[in-house]
Amino acid sequence: MSNLPEEHPWRSRFDAAIITAREAGAVALGHYRNLSALTVESKGVQDPVSEADRQTEDVIKSRLAALFPEDAFVGEETGAEGVDPSRGTWVVDPIDGTQPFLLGLPTWCVSIAYVAHDEIQVGVIYNPVTDELYAALRGHGATLDGKPMGVQQVEGLDQGLTGMGCSSRTTPEEIGHIAQSLRAAGGMYHRCGSGALTLAYVATGQLIGYVEMHINAWDCLAAILLVEESGGRVSPFLRENGVTGGGPIIAGAPGVFTQLASLLP
Ligand code: IPD
Ligand code: CA
Ligand code: CA
Repeated sequence: MSNLPEEHPWRSRFDAAIITAREAGAVALGHYRNLSALTVESKGVQDPVSEADRQTEDVIKSRLAALFPEDAFVGEETGAEGVDPSRGTWVVDPIDGTQPFLLGLPTWCVSIAYVAHDEIQVGVIYNPVTDELYAALRGHGATLDGKPMGVQQVEGLDQGLTGMGCSSRTTPEEIGHIAQSLRAAGGMYHRCGSGALTLAYVATGQLIGYVEMHINAWDCLAAILLVEESGGRVSPFLRENGVTGGGPIIAGAPGVFTQLASLLP
């Protein structure tokens, strides 16, 4: 990706997403280092939020609006603004993995996607704790800290770990079915509390796949491009749910995609 042409139509947005993810990540990290000062509120069962989420989104939203006033914006904390098929749209989760974040666990990230012409064009994920930056530009591959990523070449779920996402939007029966089917196929599950990061681990080849019954666009759009540009296969999430919706996701190494799809009830 180092030889990316300067005149690429999304080059300036790709560069801006990286700079903004790092800038926002530094703001979130400041709160993470001083968690006891945060007041935590509840948006629902197992769904906390704090000033850290809101402030981090504000940093991202204001920076992108200043650079690209013509673009629409969808953020987990502030909602949708200006969404229209004729405009490019930023889709942002300021902190994906709010539960680990608030517990002082290191698996959370900033997630920034840019969607235009019905496709995810840019996907950037930044984990401020490990200082790892995952970036993808459609058609130009995906990198972790500048080095190319690639999914694992496996042919069975028994050959690696599968990420399993779960939230209060998934029923106990659904998650039970997925866990049971995965174990029956000889697989093993992994959950770190951030869907975006877990999908990034599929792009790096650390995990062989990821499944979740219901995930929101801001959680997964950036990560979907990472997986696709790393040679992975992903269910048609954007086509089915758009930039503001949510639904199931299946992502993984091509050799296990059909098996992954069969895990969902
Ligand atoms: C959640 C996390 C979780 C996933 C959920 C998301 P949040 O986002 O990504 O891993 O399973 O679907 O809602 O609340 O930490 O931003
Ligand atoms: Ca999220
Ligand atoms: Ca979030």
